[in-house]
Amino acid sequence: MEKKELLYEGKAKKVYATEDPDKLIVSYKDDATAFDGQKKGTIVGKGAINNRMTNHVFKLFEAEGIPTHFVEELSDRETVVKKVEIVPLEVIIRNFSAGSFAKKLGMEEGIKLLCPTLEFSYKNDDLHDPFINDYYALALGLATQEEIDDITRYAFKVNEVMKKYFAGLGIELIDFKIEFGRYHGQIILADEVSPDTCRLWDMETREKLDKDRFRRDLGNVEDAYQEVFRRLGIQ
Ligand code: TMP
Ligand code: ASP
Repeated sequence: MEKKELLYEGKAKKVYATEDPDKLIVSYKDDATAFDGQKKGTIVGKGAINNRMTNHVFKLFEAEGIPTHFVEELSDRETVVKKVEIVPLEVIIRNFSAGSFAKKLGMEEGIKLLCPTLEFSYKNDDLHDPFINDYYALALGLATQEEIDDITRYAFKVNEVMKKYFAGLGIELIDFKIEFGRYHGQIILADEVSPDTCRLWDMETREKLDKDRFRRDLGNVEDAYQEVFRRLGIQ
């Protein structure tokens, strides 16, 4: 399958049309942004790692009955995916306190929550992706109740699959953000799952192996991405 016109360029990916109206090609970039694009940089090798890691875990999800947009990996950075209509919700699951949750609730980071939490943000950079609940999503027509039920069920299932899988690699899954799309009337997992979109801590040392190293200027950003990739064992 070949790339046709560039349809969209986001902060971390480019999206191309293909000869099949039902399929797109995504091309992952090394560009990194944080704080709604205010902070900009490059994480060398990130595009290839995020592409290959996303495809690897999406295959695990499919095997566990979670439908995804994955079709075929074309190269290190490029993948054919199903063309979906993105549901404008960022779906965030947390197992430990960190980031905006820790800040909002006046907690230290790294406290294990009694049960996983789920929250939605309305995908809108101008509004800084505000926190909303399922009533807001329904009232604004962002998704139907049935879609929200599917999204919630799949999101918790993604958490269970990833938590167990990463634990086997010595990685604690602190929290993550996923996005869903509509494909022929069905809700399927879209976008990516990578160190850009998850908080991943070494289980022993509690060292951060994710984009917080870039967001917070902690150094060794590339090393952290490489370390996660190395542990996946998908060379
Ligand atoms: P938060 O603690 O800043 O709300 O982030 C929760 C999770 O979502 C964390 O794993 C990082 C991820 N995330 C994104 O993928 N994109 C974003 O724009 C933000 C703010 C967070
Ligand atoms: N990618 C997001 C942005 O540029 C933020 C983040 O991941 O922290 O705004």
